[in-house]
Amino acid sequence: MKKHILVTTLAGLVLVFAFSCQDISSHRKKTQGTDPALEKKVSALVSRMTLEEKVGQMTQITLDKFYKETLDTALLHEYIVKYGLGSVLNSHHDKSGMTVALSMQEWRALQTRIQKYARETRLKIPVLYGIDAIHGVTYLKGATLFPQNIALAAARDPSVVHAAAKITAKEVRACGIRWNFDPVVGVGRQPLWSRFEETFGEDPYLVGELGEAVIRGYEEDGLDKPTAVASCMKHYLGYPVPLTGKDRTPAYIPEIVLRQIFLPPYKKAVEAGASTVMINSGSINGIPVHASRYLITDVLKEELGFTGLVVTDWQDIIYLRDQHHVAKDNKEAVMMAVNAGIDMSMVPYDLSFYHDLIALVREGKVPMSRIDDAVTRILRVKYRLGLFDNPFPEKGTEDYYEKPGYKEVALQAAREAVTLLKNDTLQGNPVLPLSNKMRLLVAGPGANSRAMLNGSWSYSWQGKDESLYPAEVPTIRQALEEKFGKNKVINIAPDGFQNVSPQQVSMLRKYAPQADAIILCLGENSYAESPGSIDDLTLPEDQLLLAEAAAKTGKPVILILTEGRPRIINRIVPSMNGILLAYRPGNMGAPALAEVLEGEVNPSGRLPYTYPRYTGNLMTYDMPVRAAQYYRPQWPFGFGLSYTTFRVTSLKADKDTLQSGDTLLVTAVVKNSGPRDGAVALDLFVRDMTATVAPPMRKLRKFTRLALKSGETKKVTFALTDEDWTFIDPSLKPRIEAGKMRVLLGNKEVEFFLKK
Ligand code: GLC
Repeated sequence: MKKHILVTTLAGLVLVFAFSCQDISSHRKKTQGTDPALEKKVSALVSRMTLEEKVGQMTQITLDKFYKETLDTALLHEYIVKYGLGSVLNSHHDKSGMTVALSMQEWRALQTRIQKYARETRLKIPVLYGIDAIHGVTYLKGATLFPQNIALAAARDPSVVHAAAKITAKEVRACGIRWNFDPVVGVGRQPLWSRFEETFGEDPYLVGELGEAVIRGYEEDGLDKPTAVASCMKHYLGYPVPLTGKDRTPAYIPEIVLRQIFLPPYKKAVEAGASTVMINSGSINGIPVHASRYLITDVLKEELGFTGLVVTDWQDIIYLRDQHHVAKDNKEAVMMAVNAGIDMSMVPYDLSFYHDLIALVREGKVPMSRIDDAVTRILRVKYRLGLFDNPFPEKGTEDYYEKPGYKEVALQAAREAVTLLKNDTLQGNPVLPLSNKMRLLVAGPGANSRAMLNGSWSYSWQGKDESLYPAEVPTIRQALEEKFGKNKVINIAPDGFQNVSPQQVSMLRKYAPQADAIILCLGENSYAESPGSIDDLTLPEDQLLLAEAAAKTGKPVILILTEGRPRIINRIVPSMNGILLAYRPGNMGAPALAEVLEGEVNPSGRLPYTYPRYTGNLMTYDMPVRAAQYYRPQWPFGFGLSYTTFRVTSLKADKDTLQSGDTLLVTAVVKNSGPRDGAVALDLFVRDMTATVAPPMRKLRKFTRLALKSGETKKVTFALTDEDWTFIDPSLKPRIEAGKMRVLLGNKEVEFFLKK
């Protein structure tokens, strides 16, 4: 099935944006284990392995285990040579307990040491090293850090997501590492959740399309190539919707919702060739996913046909005992998890899994067939990564690091992500873009913080340590000085993130008269996982007070938000004259913001989530119609303004009655009727007017980006098929029903009747 979006200018030039799924489907054939030569090699090796060697392959230990003050090479050697350790992950902690970033040379030296130890084992099976590189390589000094997924999703641009993934793959491989615990393909529908920034937002179609672009970026060259890494779709599944909003607390998801919303992005990721998957630490309907044979084996491995390796998340077998309390001891936890379908345990600090699993097999509580399946899946990935041919850091890959052009991709991604949410007209002119003659007062905790630009997994786990960010990464204040001139910027903001002090407020009052406008940088400091759990989605009071003080100065106030999740700001929105949402725009986010503020870039981002107005109104845009009356967000899913005006001047379907199985071509004419060139992201929705299961208000089914010069008009055609009106019915099966349908784009809609 090819994906086609046809774009024609009125000059008749036809630009066809299409990428075939052929390469993906052939890629999938390789990935999902139908390569007979590979299978032969793997099964031959498995047949030679002892139980201990097999269980060693299923054991993953964190690098931190082997670090005291320095690397304990003897212990590392023992784990690899005596216990046949199959995998190592992450970096190590320093004395403060912070996971540290290493240089590329240090990574390459470490990988060389590890693989040399592996060569001392009987079967010389190479070690598979895994690392987090969810928006660039977390633990690599100087790594290119891109916008977080939540920002990338605002760009509606799979090509820039794909480009970022390819660079990330190269920088991971430059370290001698070949497995990236990425992409997150969880659907972010609980804005309280501390990992919301790691998702591509609340819509399953958007998440699936962008997750596929990442996986292609990582894997499409072929895992044995030095430009590729094994991807890891995560965290399977239902992780983003803890009922309480607190990380790793229970989720309650009816199966019909699980299959309608949360499973589709994983199905697409499997089809895109994802080689590995990481399991959700949480539970669904009281069952920890790590213990769910139904979800891991029946659904993922059998129904979706996933033949890659399944790795646990951090310590999650032990947590079956300690946190979920579904296992009386570790041995029972190991039995539950491995029999559920876990192939590799991120233990990560000891040999409990190793010893308990060997005993369980000897006691007949875990069948050898399950062990062989797990080891087959692990070895399949290792062979495909070329580790048996050459497990060492490849010559020449050190040149893949920090190359010119990488920053340009990060900058372009940030430019496309920035979302303009408000732009008042003052004295007959829009407040944005600013005139470059203006004197700017810069205030707020985000003005001088690199951590707020990047968020989690940025040179350290929490991303909070400003000292780890390269000095050349511009802060918002520095980017404004660069763009507007140092003498035009009055900076009263603290260095790094700090809560707003009364002194800050009085300095703002004192210096405001000297400025033509106030740039107010608010949002969230960096956080990762459970430490980021909060009780109140409202933006903290100290920041709201600073915003109110800024409004009282009578100067135009431009609010810049750098935050991982949509903090409630209804109290200050009316008094902000301009609002730019940058999400987590990455290391090049500040220059992108300065370009938008000055008008060099016309913002085009579209919200990938519903921005809530009230803490008591956390809804998604695709709620059933019954709830529509309460959908009163601050800004709706897909909202985003521009410095120009885009109008959908017509929307036509090529049929008003469609036979199921046929294709409906929907053509829109889009005009840039405003004064500036710009790009527009188009979200096309489908609405089923009546269905057996209460239909959503609308469902995103296609999106694209168009660049239009001022006055230019373009025609864009979307091909819609049965996939676009299929829903999960009460028997949990995909269903298509005849009836009235609508297609919505911009402020236009067309209706057609679907016949069966
Ligand atoms: C963490 C995260 C997971 C990450 C893993 C290894 O707990 O949940 O996303 O890949 O551990 O760092």
